[in-house]
This record gives sequence, structure tokens and C-alpha cells, in this order.
Amino acid sequence: MTILDGKKLSDKIKTQIKHETQLLKQQGITPGLAVILVGEDEASKVYVGMKEKACQASGIYSKVYKFPQTISQDELLNTINQINNDDTIDGLLVQLPLPPHINTTEILQAIDPSKDVDGFHPYNVGRLVAGLDSFAPCTPLGVMELFKEYGIDVKGQDACVVGASNIVGKPMQALLLNEFATVDICHIYTKNLAEHTKRADIVIVGVGKINLITADMVKDGAIVVDIGINKTKDGKLVGDVDFKNVSKKASFITPVPGGVGPMTIAMLLKNTIKAAKLHLK
Ligand code: GUN
Repeated sequence: MTILDGKKLSDKIKTQIKHETQLLKQQGITPGLAVILVGEDEASKVYVGMKEKACQASGIYSKVYKFPQTISQDELLNTINQINNDDTIDGLLVQLPLPPHINTTEILQAIDPSKDVDGFHPYNVGRLVAGLDSFAPCTPLGVMELFKEYGIDVKGQDACVVGASNIVGKPMQALLLNEFATVDICHIYTKNLAEHTKRADIVIVGVGKINLITADMVKDGAIVVDIGINKTKDGKLVGDVDFKNVSKKASFITPVPGGVGPMTIAMLLKNTIKAAKLHLK
């Protein structure tokens, strides 16, 4: 069994990005990322802090726009417009979730697709599904990068994605299909989850449920990727996979923490550099 070490790979990518940032700076360009954070969601604050820190460490200029929970739709749209027109900013992301009175779809659609480093704008979603060059969401992109690093070719493999969110499951399905995997996507209404996961060469799960995937649900030699982040009662960070037992059957497996999590941030930096190069043209 081999651990898919996201921490190690993300450090390697961050070093490459630091180098690329230096090269861009020599051409008079400083890549810039704007992050919009609304409200007091603790997890969102932690994620935004991590994104800011990663930018600083790699020489990317970052600016966080913090707003109270009570911000109106129009105020938020005006801010996005202003950032869309700001030449010092190449990438813009709105940290989700937004408060219930905000229309998230409208907010995401207001982002300039050429600055959409999260890949959530329908323009980029459409291009991803069509197999065209696009900004792809950072978490599934990080999974594909891990596969590449460890020499895992998904072509012709049976993949089972558990969780069908717009942020993880659906773009994961598109990225795998674009590389010619046969993809099965499961969700809350799937009748018999184990029936699907047991068949798969690759199981990718991002649901947010501790021990959702147990050893009896995966075949021998399966590649298992855990995108879940959960806190146990004693405050320990765990994924959706029963790591202790599933790792005995898997050929490759991601740990939590230290698997997909750090890769998400690394891919955000990579997408920001991609946006900066796009704007350079
Ligand atoms: N909330 C949970 N995951 C993400 C993400 O990847 N991007 C943004 N913007 N918000 C999130």
C-alpha cells in the first residue's frame, strides 16, 4: 500500500510556483488573488487564512475582502464588479457557503470567467465538461495531480465518485471522464452504495460522514481517495474513509489530514498563476 502524500506533493508544487512567480515578477507582473469572505463561519475563516498564507509564501499578492453576515446582494455584486476591473488582481474567489439571503448562483456568475480560479462560473463548468481548457475546481484538480505524480493512469479504469456536489463530485466526474475513466457517481439517493464502490478500481469520496467507506465496501487493490473533512468528538480531524481498515486492502490511499487538503491550496495557487499568464497575453 502506498500513501498518496498530498503534503509532500503540495510542497513541491509550491516551490515550483514560487519560481514561476519570480519569473513573472521579472516581466513586471505580480500575480494577485482576491478572496471574498462573508460572515463568521469558522471553517471558512480557517480556509481563507490558509489561502492567504500560501499566497504570501509563494510571492502572490493577496487581498481579503471581509464582510459582515448582513451584507446585501447588491453590495457583494458591486465588490465583485470592482475586483473584475482591478488590474492588480488575476484571480477572484468567493468563499462558500454564503448566508442564506444571498443568491450564490448570481454571485458566482458575476465573477469574470478569466479570474474564476475556483472554476465555479458556469462558463468554466461548461468548458470543463466539453473537455476544453478551463479553470477547474481546485479540490478535484488536486486529486488528478496526485494521480499524475504517483503514475496512476485513470484511462479505462472504473472510478466511483461518492458525493455529487458542484465543488467536488461533479467536476471530479468531468476530469476523470476527460481522461477516459468510466465514472459512476453516487449521492444521497443512491440505493446501494456498497454495490457501486465494491466494483470500482478507484473510489473517491467527499461527503462529510465519518467511516462512510468501510473495508468491506472496497475491492482488494483499490485506489482510495478521501476528500472528507470531519472532526471527531475529541477534536481529531478524520475523513470519510475508515483509514485503519481500508488501507489494509487499498493499493494507494490518501490520508486525512495530509492528503487532498493541501493539494486544494496548491491548485488554487496554480490556477492563480494560470490566470496571471492569461492576463499577460
Ligand atoms: N467552500 C468549501 N470549499 C470551497 C472551495 O473550494 N472554494 C470556495 N470558494 N469555497 C469553498
